[in-house]
Amino acid sequence: MGEEQKNAASSFAPKEISDGDFRRLVNFIQQHYGIDLSKKRQLISGRLSYTVKAKGYSGFGPFIDQVLEKQDPGDIELVINKLTTNYTFFMREQEHFNFFRNTILPDVVKRRQGQRMLSIWSAGCASGEEPYTISMYVKDFLGPEAAHWDTRVLATDISQQALDKAQKGVYALPDTIPGAWKSKFFVPSAEEGQYQVAPVIRDNVIFRTFNLMDPIRFRLKFDVIFCRNVMIYFNQQTKDDLLVRFCEATEPGGYLLIGHSETMGRNPGYRYLAPATFQKR
Ligand SMILES: C[S@@+](CC[C@H](N)C(=O)[O-])C[C@H]1O[C@@H](n2cnc3c(N)ncnc32)[C@H](O)[C@@H]1O
Repeated sequence: MGEEQKNAASSFAPKEISDGDFRRLVNFIQQHYGIDLSKKRQLISGRLSYTVKAKGYSGFGPFIDQVLEKQDPGDIELVINKLTTNYTFFMREQEHFNFFRNTILPDVVKRRQGQRMLSIWSAGCASGEEPYTISMYVKDFLGPEAAHWDTRVLATDISQQALDKAQKGVYALPDTIPGAWKSKFFVPSAEEGQYQVAPVIRDNVIFRTFNLMDPIRFRLKFDVIFCRNVMIYFNQQTKDDLLVRFCEATEPGGYLLIGHSETMGRNPGYRYLAPATFQKR
């Protein structure tokens, strides 16, 4: 936030969000998007106060009235962009990618030899670093054979702002990306010091807006679902229900990877394989 924005936000401080408005917004977000913000009062007022003021509302109350009563898609999108946490980075939780390369890919590639098609979903992909990392591992694993496979990765999120950044695929590259991959999978971008994901990887990822609270009705069942650092914001019931839907949307023997700080709870559909890594029975 720039200095000007900070000043604008702090001049709003006397009209902090009321208990009632806070509860109304928390309930709405929880019910429609699963995200539990009941202990995030500071986050809500911090992230929304500038928007409320910039849009000319006299306080949080009238803004929340507008969002909840009209449910205008533009307003909702704005609120979701502000209230979701889209933090991510390339190669995040490297142990997962080691396991993906050494165990999961050899298994699913063997099983899919007939169709030459892999079905992988990055659910809650934020600004794209996760699905692009997955795609780089797949291409690297298959080598020249990749040209004969359909390896597209589905990448979904509810934050349109995050998806817009993902689709552009322009990043400052971290050192965690192996040198050989930097030259193979990235091209210098027009923006100073930035790189764009090369077409071979970018074209291999399909970005879609998708709310994980909705029924999963994709055409194909998945070989692998990555849903990492997303359910951490959900309450137990929402998480349990989503895990059931993930399980139904997965091929028998397919895999689910959750964040290393997340817990699976009890789900008879999966067996534990490695930290934060499960296989459908
Ligand atoms: C912290 S990021 C995780 C990104 C990536 N998976 C990783 O581990 O680096 C969490 C993402 O989940 C998304 N998210 C939260 N609730 C969601 C929902 N109900 N449906 C779809 N995406 C959601 C957020 O918009 C955010 O981009």
